[in-house]
Amino acid sequence: MKVTLSVIKADVGGYVGHSSMHPEIVDIAKESLSLAKTGGKLIDYDVLHCGDDLDLIMTHTMGEEAGEIHKLAWDTFVKCTEKAKELKLYGAGQDLLSDAFSGNVKGLGPGVAEMEFEERRSDPVIIFMADKTSPGAWNFPLYKMFGDPFNTAGLVIDPHMHDGFLFNVLDVYENKIVTFSLPEELYDALVFIGAMEHYIIKSIVRKSDNEIAAVSSTQKLNFLAGKYVGKDDPVLIVRAQSGFPAVGEVLEPFTFPHLVAGWMRGSHMGPFMPVTFKTANPSRFDGPPRVIAAGYQIAEGKLIGPRDMFDDPSFDNARAMANDMADYMRRHGSFEPHRLPLEDMEYTTLPEVKKKLEGRFKTNE
Ligand code: F6R
Ligand code: MG
Ligand code: MG
Repeated sequence: MKVTLSVIKADVGGYVGHSSMHPEIVDIAKESLSLAKTGGKLIDYDVLHCGDDLDLIMTHTMGEEAGEIHKLAWDTFVKCTEKAKELKLYGAGQDLLSDAFSGNVKGLGPGVAEMEFEERRSDPVIIFMADKTSPGAWNFPLYKMFGDPFNTAGLVIDPHMHDGFLFNVLDVYENKIVTFSLPEELYDALVFIGAMEHYIIKSIVRKSDNEIAAVSSTQKLNFLAGKYVGKDDPVLIVRAQSGFPAVGEVLEPFTFPHLVAGWMRGSHMGPFMPVTFKTANPSRFDGPPRVIAAGYQIAEGKLIGPRDMFDDPSFDNARAMANDMADYMRRHGSFEPHRLPLEDMEYTTLPEVKKKLEGRFKTNE
């Protein structure tokens, strides 16, 4: 059967500050999706959170970008926002009201990753959900999973993967998509995807049969006065096994906590820390950036799971390394590369300070 997996997320209010999610919000979302399941709109659902971001995971048969499903998510976020307002949670509903459908790019707002596929005999998927970073954070792990034979042994020894994968990359400044065929265009691809705040991997398909392998959320990559402000706490769906990377190959890249943009005020670089569902509450300097991994087996559209995939001591070293890196980066204070380049910061006082100092800049003769 053909099933659609839709992951739609939004920040509807933080508890406390931007650090986490109030349990009542999760309950309201579950109730809303449960009604939709009873009514036949959804086959199945799950609700998780990473930090202050609420993730609605839904299966159905309506295909990608189905109005009914998006409206269900929107209405669910609105219900959650009502409660968030009552509890005066931090930033309650701000994203929804001022941002989501208005084209205003300030704040976060809903993000979407969806894929429709023919369910295999057994179909394992991993859904990654992040907080305090941007979709560019997926470039490094996606390259490792689908492009690096030192990470994914299957690229070398599985006949079904040996032809490689196609990487669809979005230029967020030009709003254009370019496709790279790996492995033969690997060097060309790396020129671009290494610049992860500019070129973002949107999706990956298997070259031999065009089967969808991975999809990231890139909806909120917008500009305000020519400035990209897309640090919207992204999600990523990856299919695993039988001609895709094995579950362990999908998770392996996260043993290295690479540096990503989005820590404190969306204006700092920090290590991407893989954590359990329970510890996805970024509280130190509003971070460091987090990622959780929810594993499911899809069975006739039903979500069998989740398994908390980073709840494994084999990720302890990555977490320890991330903490050491966080100490190291924090000691840079306002200096780059901890702080982002001036043009990439979400918060800035530059125009005002520059104006104040007008006239004091003298030509260097
Ligand atoms: C939110 C985030 C936070 C905030 C910071 C300041 O996702 O990254 O670091 O930017 O807490 O928030 P305000 O300006 O709302 O006080
Ligand atoms: Mg928030
Ligand atoms: Mg967030």
